[in-house]
Amino acid sequence: MKMDARVFSDADALSRGALDALLGIMDDSIRQRSRFAIALSGGHTPEKLYRLWADSEKKKARAPWDKVHLFWSDERYVPKDDPLSNYRMTREALIAHIAIPAANVHPAPGPDAARTPEAAAEAYEADLRKFFGSALPAFDLQLLGLGPEGHTASLFPGSPALEEKKRWVMAVEAPAKPPRRLTFTPAVLNQGRNTFFLVAGADKGEIVAALKAEPDSGESRYPAARIRPPGGVLWFFDKAAAG
Ligand code: 6PG
Repeated sequence: MKMDARVFSDADALSRGALDALLGIMDDSIRQRSRFAIALSGGHTPEKLYRLWADSEKKKARAPWDKVHLFWSDERYVPKDDPLSNYRMTREALIAHIAIPAANVHPAPGPDAARTPEAAAEAYEADLRKFFGSALPAFDLQLLGLGPEGHTASLFPGSPALEEKKRWVMAVEAPAKPPRRLTFTPAVLNQGRNTFFLVAGADKGEIVAALKAEPDSGESRYPAARIRPPGGVLWFFDKAAAG
C-alpha cells in the first residue's frame, strides 16, 4: 500500500513533528468549525507526544481548551486509575497539566461503573452520538498506533469488529493484556478528517515492511491497513521503524 510518510531521526523528533502538525490541525479546525475533536490512543509513542504537548503549554499557553474535546479510540476495560488504562496514562501525561474543562474530556466508561463491557461500549457510543448529533463521526484528528501484528486501536487481525458497519464502539477480546477492551470500529475510524499513525522502534520494522507490500485495496488482513478515511492517513515513523 502507498504510505504518505514522514521519517524522523528518533521517537522524540517524531513526537515534535507530530505535535506541530497536530497544533496546525487544531487551529484550522477551531477556525473552521469552532471546535477540535481528537481521538487519542494508548501506547508508548503517543505518550511522548502528550508529555510534549503539556510541556509546550507550560511555556506558552496556546490551546483554547474550552474548544478541545478528547476521546479515546480504544480503552482497556480496567478501572480509570489502573496502570493499564489509556485514560490514566493520558491524564498523567497531559490532562493533569492543562486547563481543559472536565466536560470536554470524554473517557470510555470502565468497569468502575459496574457494567458489562458490551453495555460500556453502548454507553460510549451514546456519548459519541450525542457529540456528533446527526453528523458523521468525523474526528478532526485521530492519533493511532501500530502493533507488531498490524493491530490499531484495539482492532486485532481476525476481529469481528473489523467487519462492523453499524456500531461505532465495540467490546472486544484482544490477544493482548488485558484482553477485554473497548474499541472504535472502522465505521468511525474511516470517517476521520485527519489521521496520524505514530510508529516508533525497530520492533515495528517488520510490520511496516509488510504493510508497504500490501495491495492498496483496503481488504488487508492487517487492521491498520483498513483505515482509509477520506481525509487520508499520514504516517509518522522514526528511522528504526521505517527500516
Ligand atoms: C492500546 C493502543 C494500541 C497501540 C499500539 C502501539 O491501547 O493498546 O491504543 O493500539 O496504539 O499497540 O503501541 P506503541 O505506541 O506502544 O507501540
